[in-house]
Amino acid sequence: MDETTNDTTAPSLSWKVFAAAAAAGVVLIAVFLNLPAEMWAEIDELPLHPLIVHGVIVALPATAIWFMVAAWRPKVLARTWWLGWTLAVLSVLGVIVASSSGESLAAAVGNPDEHAEAGDRLGPVTLVMAVLVLALVFVGLIRRIGPLDRVVAVVGTLVAVALFPLTYLAGHSGAEAVWQETYAEAKEPIATDQRTFTMAEVERRNTPAECWTIVDGVVYDVTSFISRHPAGGADIRAMCGRDASDSFLGQHQGQAEPEEWLATLRIGTVGG
Ligand code: HEM
Ligand code: HEM
Repeated sequence: MDETTNDTTAPSLSWKVFAAAAAAGVVLIAVFLNLPAEMWAEIDELPLHPLIVHGVIVALPATAIWFMVAAWRPKVLARTWWLGWTLAVLSVLGVIVASSSGESLAAAVGNPDEHAEAGDRLGPVTLVMAVLVLALVFVGLIRRIGPLDRVVAVVGTLVAVALFPLTYLAGHSGAEAVWQETYAEAKEPIATDQRTFTMAEVERRNTPAECWTIVDGVVYDVTSFISRHPAGGADIRAMCGRDASDSFLGQHQGQAEPEEWLATLRIGTVGG
């Protein structure tokens, strides 16, 4: 017997398909929740966390965007309900793996308190979003229940909107924990006591082990930049021990990024 709704405006979905899809998702989530945590610690001798969080950062906003559209466009809901549910399930699985792998990583590198809290906050909200996706499919495609479809649409849209800042905060605090210090250090000038050097002093520093150069009368210690140059070390090695104004300016004059990095390597000027 066909149990689907007869509402002429709402394209319908069979009960059986809905129940099968819902059950598959719920079982998958239950399985992931019960797998041993150490499963998510590593991949190929590296921590899994930095890899899996990329998936979470894509799946969560994708689910939220889907909800915000499908809740208000019945045709989109009818055609793509399976996509919304898949994204919602993937988001929940992703957050489970991210939390578990994050805890394993914390044991290795220390607990990034603020970030761990931001990550943990995402779990319940993601679960609520998945339940609302299922509810939206139910009230939109199987059975309209009074004003409940409106309530699901409004509450779900609010949760979807909230997911953006919550995802951003978790991702940003994680990136901060890893990168803030290292990046700020790299951007700091390597010498604060600027001195005056003779040409001979610069010419002596003409090897990759100690590589000084001159651009526009300013002396730079570019040793550390040999391995960092985006286009390879050869261009920088060729600057060692000489006035390389022509090479640098010929390639990079007026380009903000190369000029900013060069400025961090300044150690003084040439005099005499
Ligand atoms: C579920 C949402 C989460 C997201 C989206 C997320 C995201 C991130 C990101 C983007 C990074 C930086 C990766 C890199 O640049 O290499 C990171 C690092 C990290 N996360 Fe998470 N994370 C989440 C949950 C957690 C949880 C629950 C913990 C539990 C302790 C955790 C622990 C860590 C640790 C220990 C690091 C490395 C910090 C360091 O090396 O100083 N994360 N996370
Ligand atoms: C210490 C001096 C130098 C610094 C700080 C520097 C910095 C940079 C940076 C940041 C980039 C990436 C730019 C981007 O992708 O937007 C770059 C790219 C590049 N650099 Fe340099 N560079 C230096 C010297 C040189 C020299 C002497 C040459 C060649 C004579 C050179 C050739 C290139 C080339 C071919 C690229 C790739 C193309 C491009 O993005 O413009 N660089 N460099």
